[in-house]
Amino acid sequence: MAGRSQRVAPVKAVVFPGSFDPLTNGHVDIIERASEIFGQVIVAVLFNPSKEALFTQAEREALISKQFARYRGRVSVVSFSGLLVDFVQSTKSRVVIRGLRAISDFDYEAQMALINRKLAPQIETFFLTAREEHSYISSTVVKQVALLGGDVRGMVPRVVSDALAKKREERRRQGRRPL
Ligand code: PNS
Repeated sequence: MAGRSQRVAPVKAVVFPGSFDPLTNGHVDIIERASEIFGQVIVAVLFNPSKEALFTQAEREALISKQFARYRGRVSVVSFSGLLVDFVQSTKSRVVIRGLRAISDFDYEAQMALINRKLAPQIETFFLTAREEHSYISSTVVKQVALLGGDVRGMVPRVVSDALAKKREERRRQGRRPL
């Protein structure tokens, strides 16, 4: 009997899904490492109209595209809505990449991977361990620190820290509270 490896085409691209509100250095590291291992990474930005984001869909996509402009062909950025597995099936990939920062991430990530496998058994989820220096970074804390005037350099790429500073200034001019 032929083994699984003989029946299934090798993977040429992986999907890295997320909200990316905004992109952090943790995300950048996972994308760079995944592109070295797998060749091509499709960064899939979730469009979720029921969740209020700081950056618009177009802004989130543009920030990632800017950061990875020199990776032409190896990193692409697309928006998706609905089920992740449906999106993955619409690509030439069948692998989802997620980063794990700490054991506390594992419960949620394992649940998501198992649900996705139940929905689409041919899709695999691979986890990459975040680098130690990124283990405390999340989009949520970055937004909070930046909007309250803290320094987020070292947590996000330059394009993102500039965009966060602009958001803070915009809110200040509009007389809105920082958060
Ligand atoms: O960066 P995030 O917010 O942790 O990413 C979560 C994401 C986008 C990967 C997840 O919410 C997702 O896949 N949403 C699409 C809806 C879906 O497929 N849900 C079923 C699996 S939980």
